[in-house]
Amino acid sequence: MRKRGQNGLWVIWKVAAVVSFFIYLLIALVRIYYYYYYSDDSDDDVNNNVDLLQQVNPRVVAFMFLVRRDLPLDFLWHTFFLQNGDAANYSIYIHSEPGFVFDETSTRSTFFYGRQLTNSIKVAWGQSTMIEAERLLLRAALQNPANQRFILLSDSCVPLYNFSYIYNYLMGSSKSFVDSFLDMKEGRYNPRMSSVIPMRKWRKGSQWIALIRSHAKVVAYDDIVFPVFKKL
Ligand SMILES: *[C@@H]1O[C@H](CO)[C@@H](O)[C@H](O)[C@H]1NC(C)=O
Ligand SMILES: *[C@@H]1O[C@H](CO)[C@@H](O)[C@H](O)[C@H]1NC(C)=O
Repeated sequence: MRKRGQNGLWVIWKVAAVVSFFIYLLIALVRIYYYYYYSDDSDDDVNNNVDLLQQVNPRVVAFMFLVRRDLPLDFLWHTFFLQNGDAANYSIYIHSEPGFVFDETSTRSTFFYGRQLTNSIKVAWGQSTMIEAERLLLRAALQNPANQRFILLSDSCVPLYNFSYIYNYLMGSSKSFVDSFLDMKEGRYNPRMSSVIPMRKWRKGSQWIALIRSHAKVVAYDDIVFPVFKKL
């Protein structure tokens, strides 16, 4: 779908995307640390009520697509959901450019019709709006108590295994899957964060993650770490 003349722009997107992945995951990980160190159980009421209904069947995997505009690889995902996806076992959420509509003119897959958030925001790559868009996706998916696993995907992600394999893999584990490592050459830590985010808790990793419900709530409703990045 992309024209040749857009290659330069495409490279810039890629660089921006890589930078933003790292920035993001630092935040996700710091949040998860905070969850363990400072968690109190005073989540907002809506959320607690939803979780009273948590023992739902079947348990659903939320596929959350954080995309620039359309989904160029929609045909691969179409095959993935069609092949052996059980419609009761998954849900789909899309955060795209505000106003962009997934319908027969913009996607080859009916699975994506009408799945985009209506409250999407303009995202600047490498900025806190990227995190906010992800939080909007998580908050939307958390509204459905059946959603028990939350996978964040980009418009260039492709499924490497079939649906039932991925479903059983995620449901068979009580853990979230995130990338995290200590980068000794890391130059992005800003000492101005130190009152909230001590340097010893700073980690690097990819943005694309799979979370269990309790961790999804930490990221979606965090009001300690996110404001720090918003201010930078
Ligand atoms: C759908 O979920 C049920 C459990 O709720 C599971 O037994 C079944 O294997 C799942 N289907 C697929 C295709 O993964
Ligand atoms: C899904 O993939 C797994 C692992 O590759 C394989 O064992 C299984 O037979 C596949 N299931 C279907 C329904 O294609």
